[in-house]
Amino acid sequence: EIKQDTYLINGELRPWTGESSEVYSSISSTKDYKPTLLGTIPTLGETEALEALDAAVNAYDKGQGLWPTMKVKDRIICMEKFVIQMKTKRDEVVKLLMWEIGKSLPDSEKEFDRTVDYIYNTIEEYKQLDRDNAKFEKHDGVRAHIRRGPLGVVLCLGPYNYPLNETFALLIPALIMGNTAIFKPAKFGVLLISPLLEAFRSSFPKGVVNIIYGRGRTVASPIMKTGKVDVLALIGNSKSANALQNQHPKSNRLRLVLGLEAKNPAIVLKDADLDLAIDECISGTTSFNGQRCTALKIVYVHEDIVEEFNKRFSAKVDALKFGNPWDDGVKLTPLPEPDKPAYIQELIDDALEKGAKILNEKGGKTTDNYIYPAVLYPVTKDMRVFQEEQFGPVIPVLSFSDIDKPLDDMAASNYGQQVSLFGSDVKTLAPLIDALVNLVCRVNLNSSCQRGPDVYPFTGRKDSAVGTLSVYDALRSFSIRTFVASKDN
Ligand code: G3H
Repeated sequence: EIKQDTYLINGELRPWTGESSEVYSSISSTKDYKPTLLGTIPTLGETEALEALDAAVNAYDKGQGLWPTMKVKDRIICMEKFVIQMKTKRDEVVKLLMWEIGKSLPDSEKEFDRTVDYIYNTIEEYKQLDRDNAKFEKHDGVRAHIRRGPLGVVLCLGPYNYPLNETFALLIPALIMGNTAIFKPAKFGVLLISPLLEAFRSSFPKGVVNIIYGRGRTVASPIMKTGKVDVLALIGNSKSANALQNQHPKSNRLRLVLGLEAKNPAIVLKDADLDLAIDECISGTTSFNGQRCTALKIVYVHEDIVEEFNKRFSAKVDALKFGNPWDDGVKLTPLPEPDKPAYIQELIDDALEKGAKILNEKGGKTTDNYIYPAVLYPVTKDMRVFQEEQFGPVIPVLSFSDIDKPLDDMAASNYGQQVSLFGSDVKTLAPLIDALVNLVCRVNLNSSCQRGPDVYPFTGRKDSAVGTLSVYDALRSFSIRTFVASKDN
């Protein structure tokens, strides 16, 4: 058990003696199901939240603070110091990733290593940015020395499904560009930040990064209401993002970097390599139990091959191994959100009532902390599973005869992150790709949707994102292009 009884403000790990909240794992360590108590975290209040804000505001000091004015090479030294310490905590963090959010061992290790790589790649990109900025430009007799300047104070909130990688993909570029931050870990995946607190404390000047705990309403809202936050950096749901944005008294001044919902479709054309399409749809729909913003959340299959697809796809879903994250070959694991199985059941019941069937034998079978993915067919627009981002183990399948059907649905959707397109005839694929890139931001040809490699832009149209993340883009998202001009006659 981890008793997290400090929080990081102004370079100090302050002791907390007030109320604390228990953190449970949905993984049971006993045979008769009982959630496992993993530890406790401080339930901070408005006072502590505003102290964290003050620390970040003072460290930024209207752009005149030590951190925003620090030389590039010195900020890099701090970041390197951090990542070197972080690497020593791999085993602890990986273990907590498994217990807190139920991520499999290989995926937890991947998340940790990917985050470390992300930090190193960010440092390299930052050096490149600095080299580019060292060059002068000259246009019409005006010489310009371009610089990238920070934006100010960042409130950083990450999601439970990638509590390390996605949060750090916001926090690290924000910090290296000279911003200061208040960071509240996700509700699930919160204890795994504990082993890293000392690394944060000792690597950065005081007030540059402040880490708080508590309910969003109690800690994040008061911070936003002061109007002192310059950037809201959030990966999660649009409800929380909108609420926080609207609490800022001058929301037009607030910059946003947001990764939000998605309903990425797979479109399987009749000439698709069916084995490949099925395997990719399996990983796309079921990896981490479908709890990825990039998961395939709806599958369109051409009517000529839908029967064959459904038969083989359903059998493969039923062959996936369910177990604890550290079990060998495990693919499906307990869900961290206690209310998720009931929600998925509602979607299944609604679809069944409206005419869909569960194609796989195990579909919808529940344990205390899991519901087995149900392959639902035929799904129609009036079903909730068509309309909502399920973010969990249920797989809606539709058939189409005319490609306009999935294209029209995508055009009408509020989301526009990615699509997977399966087919082989280049003459058919080429114009389709041209249409799809104007509906989403990434077309995955004969492969499932994914965010990585993290050098590529990660963003979305409509309600799916604001701003772009990648190693390259994030540095730009958290900074502004400024320049020093002089006449050059
Ligand atoms: O939840 C969204 C994640 O960024 C997905 O990342 O595609 O690498 O699993 P991934």
